[in-house]
Amino acid sequence: MSLTPIGEPRQKITIASLREKILHREPITCLTAYDYATARLVDEAGIDIILVGDSLAQTMLGYDNTLTVTIDEMLHHTKAVRRAVKNALLVADMPFGSYHVSPDEAVSNAARFIKEGGAEAVKIEGGEKRADLIRRIIDAEIPVAGHIGLTPQSVNVMSGYKVQGKTLTGIEQLMRDAVALDRAGVACIYLEGIPREVAAMITAEVSTPTIGIGAGPECDGQVLVIHDILNLNFGTPAKFVRRYGDAAALISDAVQAFRADVVSGQYPSDGESYHLPKETRSALDTVLERKRGIRR
Ligand code: KIV
Repeated sequence: MSLTPIGEPRQKITIASLREKILHREPITCLTAYDYATARLVDEAGIDIILVGDSLAQTMLGYDNTLTVTIDEMLHHTKAVRRAVKNALLVADMPFGSYHVSPDEAVSNAARFIKEGGAEAVKIEGGEKRADLIRRIIDAEIPVAGHIGLTPQSVNVMSGYKVQGKTLTGIEQLMRDAVALDRAGVACIYLEGIPREVAAMITAEVSTPTIGIGAGPECDGQVLVIHDILNLNFGTPAKFVRRYGDAAALISDAVQAFRADVVSGQYPSDGESYHLPKETRSALDTVLERKRGIRR
C-alpha cells in the first residue's frame, strides 16, 4: 500500500470508499478534530475520516465528561471543521440528549448536523437498542456511524469508564449490538474499550467497517483523539493512547519565549514594525519642527 504524499491530489473519501478500503485490506484512519486549523492539517495529512467527537466537551471546552455538551456547541465546531475539510469523510457526534427523547426529534437533530454543520454522517452511541432509531435516521437519507463498547455517554449507567465485553454475557451483548448495527445499515462501527479478541470476532462477523479505539489491531481501522496523540489532554492517558508529538511542550516553550522577549524589550524589533512612507515622514518632521519653534 502506498501513501499519497502531503500536498498531492487525493480521492474524496465517501462511505463507499470505506467499504472499498476493507475489500482491499487497507486500514482506515480516523482522528478527531474540532477546529479549522487542526482539521486542515489532519485532512491534508490524508486521514480518511475526521470525527467531530463529543469528546470536544472535555478537550476543547473543559467539561468533566461528554454529557453536558449541547447540539449548538457541537454544531459550532462542526461548521469550523467543515470549512477546513476537503477530502476526508466528515462525521459528527450527536450529543447526549439529542437522540434519546423521540425518533422525530432525533431525525430533525441529525438533519441539523447535515444541513447546518455540513457533516456527511452522524455518530450515535448504542447498539441493539438504537437499531430502529438508526434505521429511521438512515431512511431520512442521513448516514449513521454506530458506536458500541465503552460508550462515554453511558458513563453513569456503566458506573465509570470501564472496558466492556469482559464476560461471556458481555461478549454476547456486544455481538448482538454489532450485528444489529450491521443489519441497520450503518456506515461504520466504532468499537471503544473492548478486549482485542472480542473486537476481532466482531470484525470477522460484520460486513460494516469497524474502527477501533482501545479495541486492538484486528479492527478495520483505528481512531484516536487528536489531543491524546499530541499530549494536550492534561491527564493520565489511557492504555491504548500512543503519543505522536508534544504540542504541550511546543506551545509552552513558544509562549514563555514570547513573554521573555516582551519583558526584556526584544519584541518587537524595528524590522517587525510598520514605518511611515518617506513623504509622510518628512511632512511630519516639518510639522513637528514648526511646533517646536512656536513653543520656543
Ligand atoms: O467523541 C469522540 O472522540 C469519540 C471517539 C473516541 C470515537 O467518540
